[in-house]
Amino acid sequence: MMPRKLLSYFLLPVFILFAAAGCKKVDINYGSQYLDNSLTQLIKVDTFGVDLSTVYIDSFPTSAKGVTLVGGYTDPLFGRIDSRTYFEITPPTTNAPDYVKGIYDSLYLTLFLNKNYYGDTTKPLHIEVSQLNQLITPFSLNGSTSPFLYNVDQYPVFPTPLGSTDLVVRPNLTDSIHIRLDDNLGRVLFSKIQTADYFIQNSSQFLSFFNGMRISSNASSNLIVGCKDSLTMHLVYHTPALYADTSSINFTLSNNAHHFVNITADRAGTALQNLGPAAAAGKQNVLPSAATGHAAYTQTSSGAVAKLRFPNVQNVLKIPNYLKVVRAELIIRPVVGTYNTQYYLPPQLRLSTTTLANQLGTDLTVPTASGSAVIQYGSLSLDYAGGQSSYTYDITTYIKSLVENPAFAASTDGLLLAPPSPAYETQFPRLVFGDKTTGIYNRIELDVYYVAVQTK
Ligand SMILES: *[C@@H]1O[C@H](CO)[C@@H](O)[C@H](O)[C@H]1NC(C)=O
Ligand SMILES: *[C@@H]1O[C@H](CO)[C@@H](O)[C@H](O)[C@H]1NC(C)=O
Ligand SMILES: *[C@@H]1O[C@H](CO)[C@@H](O)[C@H](O)[C@H]1NC(C)=O
Ligand SMILES: *[C@@H]1O[C@H](CO)[C@@H](O)[C@H](O)[C@H]1NC(C)=O
Ligand SMILES: *[C@@H]1O[C@H](CO)[C@@H](O)[C@H](O)[C@H]1NC(C)=O
Repeated sequence: MMPRKLLSYFLLPVFILFAAAGCKKVDINYGSQYLDNSLTQLIKVDTFGVDLSTVYIDSFPTSAKGVTLVGGYTDPLFGRIDSRTYFEITPPTTNAPDYVKGIYDSLYLTLFLNKNYYGDTTKPLHIEVSQLNQLITPFSLNGSTSPFLYNVDQYPVFPTPLGSTDLVVRPNLTDSIHIRLDDNLGRVLFSKIQTADYFIQNSSQFLSFFNGMRISSNASSNLIVGCKDSLTMHLVYHTPALYADTSSINFTLSNNAHHFVNITADRAGTALQNLGPAAAAGKQNVLPSAATGHAAYTQTSSGAVAKLRFPNVQNVLKIPNYLKVVRAELIIRPVVGTYNTQYYLPPQLRLSTTTLANQLGTDLTVPTASGSAVIQYGSLSLDYAGGQSSYTYDITTYIKSLVENPAFAASTDGLLLAPPSPAYETQFPRLVFGDKTTGIYNRIELDVYYVAVQTK
């Protein structure tokens, strides 16, 4: 029997060559040459550079994602993050005579948690609900209206909130949050219902009376809680009768295309403080890892995405006896001490091709046994205690294209590391990972396996 080490040394190349053989016959030839004739050998190198940087994302749509975000928190590495959700509501169809004898009781907004959260769940979360004093109107350009609303959009509100609350949210136990709202508004709405007022008759007429709402927090909060878009404003009333029955008239979210989240990040005092729109004084839209503690940062919801470039991988062509790249594996290591169970890591991150413009291109995939391509999410290996977590990607196809196809190499400018949507826009788990100059447990690793002619 072969010693274990030797066995895996032999099995690995066989497996790789078979895996690579999926689409091209030529790989099988290399494989059989290697196996039968010992004419070639498989060599692994991890000496090619991977340039890291953090790129500023200027805006992205947050409308119609089905997520209401409430709160804000201060992150030692990413800065102060705040979220505000804007939305419109619609009255139910009612029959005025059913309510004429009714007596108004209260008005409140109910949010239903979606169980995503980020931050400190032991401290109270402050929530404010304000009434918009302008309609939500997506911007128009040359007469065509944008179908989306963005993380940077905002609409003015009346100065006094309709209501607020301070509560400790235990996301695993709390299912809903209730915020008591202004009784003056409640009474006005109830009287409109009782009189079948013009503004209560349908959603568009209602909007012209009640433009919508904003849910926000304040700088004392240290938690962002994700809620569903199935929020409801309850108008509670009772009818004086033998049995004092209370009922509620429910106003629900009306147009999910106008339900969106504004997210801001104040990076002051962090390694990312110069990250921002290049047009702003002192800001740069790309920060090389050398300028940010030899690490790159990803938290797309707050506008930061890590970029990876492979500037010298073509040098593999210059290696004597080089024949062909057969595999390339990328290992991304979160920097020890930058994450823990509170600031937990993104469970899934994809690598997408990009250009100098830094827009997301195509997600890197791997073929499955059945031959279909699936997006890679990094197979996070989590190690909170030992600090040796990692994400691993098979980037063979991308690296082979860089090496073998000059037109492709000219058309690409690396890869962006981002969570899939809607986590991209609505969740806050973040990653700080080391460049090649950092310690062994933090360092990014690119392993390129190539076949070379056997020299002896
Ligand atoms: C919304 O986003 C913009 C741009 O990031 C920011 O300037 C604004 O203060 C935010 N505010 C509110 C209240 O939504
Ligand atoms: C909530 O539940 C998740 C999954 O079971 C767990 O990882 C997390 O620590 C819990 N959070 C709190 C605050 O208890
Ligand atoms: C609301 O009612 C008015 C008048 O009957 C009508 O013109 C309008 O189309 C209606 N809007 C909706 C959204 O039903
Ligand atoms: C946020 O609201 C809470 C409750 O009203 C208040 O105690 C706290 O001072 C507020 N924080 C800021 C920074 O305004
Ligand atoms: C309004 O909401 C309450 C609480 O969610 C629910 O019990 C009630 O059935 C709803 N009423 C209508 C008419 O949908």
